[in-house]
Amino acid sequence: MARMPIIAGNWKMHNKRAEAEQLAREVVAATAATTDVEIVLCPPFTSLEAVAKAIAGSRVKLGAQNCHFEEKGAFTGEVSVPMLKELGVEYVIIGHSERRQYFAETDAAINRKAQTLYAHGVTPIICVGETLEEREAGRTAEVVSTQVRGCLAGLPADKVAASVIAYEPVWAIGTGRTATKEQAQEVHALIRKLVAEMFTPDVAAALRIQYGGSVKPENARELMSQPDIDGALVGGASLKAESFAGIVNFNK
Ligand code: PGA
Repeated sequence: MARMPIIAGNWKMHNKRAEAEQLAREVVAATAATTDVEIVLCPPFTSLEAVAKAIAGSRVKLGAQNCHFEEKGAFTGEVSVPMLKELGVEYVIIGHSERRQYFAETDAAINRKAQTLYAHGVTPIICVGETLEEREAGRTAEVVSTQVRGCLAGLPADKVAASVIAYEPVWAIGTGRTATKEQAQEVHALIRKLVAEMFTPDVAAALRIQYGGSVKPENARELMSQPDIDGALVGGASLKAESFAGIVNFNK
């Protein structure tokens, strides 16, 4: 089964409502001719509604950058999956390295978030990746495997098959230092093999695995040409319509 590439823009803590709406409109216009790539924009919570309005009627989908694992309750400052769903959110990034690093997000929490997302028909983009220190110590495979096992443990196979994993080496995020296509492919293949072992080969074959970390129009095509790379999670380059569209249109 051919996997449709999925390119998601992770805007992080950028873009107030008016800027977000403008950028989303520009992305819609600049990507309108590309029908063989799934496109997702993940603005901050406060700009979700503005972006939803701007992408209405287009192929561009709405994503969020985090959610809570409970559906409601006394969790000051948190946002629930039903709240996101109500705004038209179809994807949620969970376990981003910035959330692991600054907000102590654990594999166990990510696993619970995935379950809640599945219960509401929202697709998780589950992020994993090693730090520079871990890579230099030769621990990449071990670290990424532990994250994948912890994040996916006990989840329903059919939902995992329809999910997205983003492999983002922490040393490549926002640094301008991209993993080579060989480095990325090696880890992507490892993740797919592990998912085949944990679930079935069919689940692994259906699951889409994005690469993230300094993806730009200049390196998108080469990364995407790898057999196990099914798209990209884009930070910095997603903040300008021209560069984001350059990545979405990597095949053009
Ligand atoms: P970057 O960020 O493209 O700016 O490296 C990627 C990410 O953090 O998702």
